[in-house]
Amino acid sequence: MPSRTDLISTDVELAAERIRRGGLVAIPTETVYGLAGDAENADAVARIFEVKGRPTDHPLIVHVADADQLHGWVARVTDEITALAEACWPGPLTILAERGPRVLDAVTGGRPAVAVRVPSHPMTNELLTRVGGGLAAPSANRFGRVSPTRAEHVLADLPGLQPGRDLILDGGACPVGVESTIVDLTVDPPQVLRSGAIDAADIERLLDTPVSGAAGPSRASGMLASHYAPTATVILAQDAGAAEIAAGDLRHGGRRVEVLDRTGDLVVAARELYNDLRAADREGLDALVVVLPPAAGIGHALRDRLMKAAAQPGPDHPSRGG
Ligand code: TXA
Ligand code: MG
Repeated sequence: MPSRTDLISTDVELAAERIRRGGLVAIPTETVYGLAGDAENADAVARIFEVKGRPTDHPLIVHVADADQLHGWVARVTDEITALAEACWPGPLTILAERGPRVLDAVTGGRPAVAVRVPSHPMTNELLTRVGGGLAAPSANRFGRVSPTRAEHVLADLPGLQPGRDLILDGGACPVGVESTIVDLTVDPPQVLRSGAIDAADIERLLDTPVSGAAGPSRASGMLASHYAPTATVILAQDAGAAEIAAGDLRHGGRRVEVLDRTGDLVVAARELYNDLRAADREGLDALVVVLPPAAGIGHALRDRLMKAAAQPGPDHPSRGG
């Protein structure tokens, strides 16, 4: 009997074989791990939703090896796409564009636009080159949990992965740590739907046009208010002093509480964010008091994810996204 830990491997050719046979492979990327299947195999795409426990109306990003591979996935490789691709790919940017003929309905939930991205991770780039086509992949967490940034997170989250059929390609810890920036080029002006390591200001500069949604909360479809939430209650504090006061009050009430302050280095804060949130749950904390980073650069993405982690699912949002 193969054991669950047999799922974890560093063998890229084995991963390519699993994809070719219709299996799923958790792929390391610079942002977070993705749960990938052949984007043109309807059964593989259906299993992505099943294994993740995700409703089928939440569309998937198609990952390709490089911008030259976009033909067929998007309707037209426009000048805007080319400008962003040349500057940002491989890298943490997802582009929403009019879909091409290779895109299955199941990938976009029937929408006319498809999300495409060229990730940056040596193993996954090698895998994409060997497989040749597109890999449909959402983040490899169970629906409603925070995104995985380590192979062990994927193993813990996805009991539906089957040894011998699927694989977790272990590429170490994801260096960026938060999901890609999503920019919608199907609207005028272009709109940032989700913040990430590539700032809205970078996109404005590259497209030489103002973009909307630059500083607001994520709007990508399926991104509900209470995404990315751990089990421990996340409480946000404006500064370290306020965090200590809030934590002290809670401890006084008998709760297990820790303070998380990574405002000194926002790159490290992003890289460690999801591991920190998962650690709070592993340690059985009742609450994690987090000092909010400043709203600049990747601080926008951190604040966005932290606000979602702190939001409780209300009556209007009975489910969580992810
Ligand atoms: O960094 C990332 O983007 C990671 C790695 C694995 O590439 N992927 C990721 O996928 O975060 P996911 O599915 O967890 O988040 C993608 C977001 C979802 O909110 C989804 O609804 C939205 O992008 N999205 C995908 N395709 C779309 C489409 N055709 N139209 C509108 N929104 C779309
Ligand atoms: Mg996700």
